[in-house]
Amino acid sequence: MKRRNFLKALMGVFGTVSVASFAYPLIRYLAPSGSAADQKKIVLSKQEIPIGGSKVIVFHERPAIVINRPDKGFIVLSKVCTHLGCLVEYAKDRNVLVCPCHAGTFDLEGNVISGPPPKPLPKLPLRVEGEQIIIG
Ligand code: FES
Repeated sequence: MKRRNFLKALMGVFGTVSVASFAYPLIRYLAPSGSAADQKKIVLSKQEIPIGGSKVIVFHERPAIVINRPDKGFIVLSKVCTHLGCLVEYAKDRNVLVCPCHAGTFDLEGNVISGPPPKPLPKLPLRVEGEQIIIG
């Protein structure tokens, strides 16, 4: 194989991988999931998440985060940024969720504080029963 052809093939592979790594999270976010297995609830112990703490879960095949807010209690938010689908991170010291891709920032209700995200992070259904947190 000639060097030029090898470099073209190599660039093609890199291009395909780049497009796939961008498109996959977006497609996963937009595609509905509705199998019976997806309908399962997640049960956590309240003791797993102390005040100010968080736990990352996968719900309906999508990453989400359970946060025990200091003054408002538990909430579950999607970790998928509403801008382009990157995964937000909980910045405990600032009480916000930050997207590493374009610096979108969300409060602990999921509302957009700053940056390009067009809408809030989706909230997932959660209820607390005794010592259990039930998601779904
Ligand atoms: S993908 Fe999160 S701010 Fe752009």
